[in-house]
Amino acid sequence: MVVSGCNSARAAEDPAAAGDIPFDHTIHAGELGMECLACHTFADKATVAGIPSASKCMGCHRFAATDKAPIKKLAALVEQGKAPTWRKDYALADHVYFSHRMHVRTGLACQTCHGPVETMKQVQRVSSLEMGWCLECHKQRQVSVDCLVCHK
Ligand code: HEC
Ligand code: HEC
Ligand code: HEC
Ligand code: HEC
Ligand code: HEC
Repeated sequence: MVVSGCNSARAAEDPAAAGDIPFDHTIHAGELGMECLACHTFADKATVAGIPSASKCMGCHRFAATDKAPIKKLAALVEQGKAPTWRKDYALADHVYFSHRMHVRTGLACQTCHGPVETMKQVQRVSSLEMGWCLECHKQRQVSVDCLVCHK
């Protein structure tokens, strides 16, 4: 299943989504070559990968692309002490235990599960996140498929 991860289209359709800022991975992770972990800083340390704060964006955008409308909007949000709203495309049900740390530390590339994000202007979900998806890789790599590993 491919699900749109777009913030910009939603902002255009829904002016009430005032916190929406378009974010383009092809510029940041593609052209600028930023590491995934530079922004998703918890992915090798915690269960969640984490989304960068607006002040992290402003570290560059105080100087870069300041004439562009989304950057003006971002700066205004930060000034008001507000955070941009991002839509979540990858989310598991609460009854499933998943941790980024163990998967990233074992050497799996982000792209194994998320696809070539650096080529996506808007993040597209590329994995079903269904149980069969987890089990298929676990069986291939001889990792435990005991129910209690993922269902605590
Ligand atoms: C400059 C910071 C930055 C860099 C570098 C970056 N990302 Fe992101 N990433 C974001 C932001 C902001 C979002 C939320 C907006 C969106 O969905 O596009 C996001 C969203 C995502 C999502 C979607 C999460 C969800 O549930 O919707 C994935 C997956 C992702 N990034 C993976 C990656 C990968 C893989 C790389 C490296 C190839 C990477 N990112 C590099 C800032 C960054
Ligand atoms: C390492 C520096 C850096 C960081 C950190 C960074 N950006 Fe950027 N960003 C850039 C540069 C450089 C450009 C390209 C400017 C240009 O082409 O004029 C850009 C372009 C953009 C644009 C304009 C896209 C377009 O249509 O031209 C937006 C919007 C944007 N960034 C949002 C963000 C957001 C949101 C974050 C934080 C999640 C972020 N950036 C973090 C350097 C950065
Ligand atoms: C083994 C598969 C797998 C790998 C490898 C992986 N992810 Fe994920 N990622 C997921 C799953 C599953 C979710 C949904 C987690 C949830 O909802 O509990 C997710 C969620 C996310 C999110 C949404 C927000 C959050 O904080 O969880 C981001 C961003 C993300 N991943 C980025 C990355 C980055 C960057 C890397 C590489 C450093 C990476 N992922 C490696 C499977 C993976
Ligand atoms: C692309 C392959 C891949 C996918 C997809 C994947 N995993 Fe894993 N998983 C691994 C590997 C490899 C390990 C072993 C890590 C280690 O021990 O270093 C692991 C370990 C685990 C562990 C710890 C197992 C233990 O014995 O302690 C849990 C929990 C887990 N995965 C949950 C999940 C869940 C939930 C999903 C689906 C949402 C998932 N994994 C998808 C490859 C994968
Ligand atoms: C590697 C991780 C993993 C293992 C091992 C695993 N599951 Fe799951 N299970 C999942 C994921 C992921 C989902 C889907 C959650 C979702 O829809 O967000 C799921 C969903 C389920 C559901 C459906 C609940 C619902 O949301 O409708 C049942 C029932 C279930 N699992 C039972 C089991 C049993 C029984 C075992 C042992 C034979 C097992 N699981 C082993 C990851 C796992």
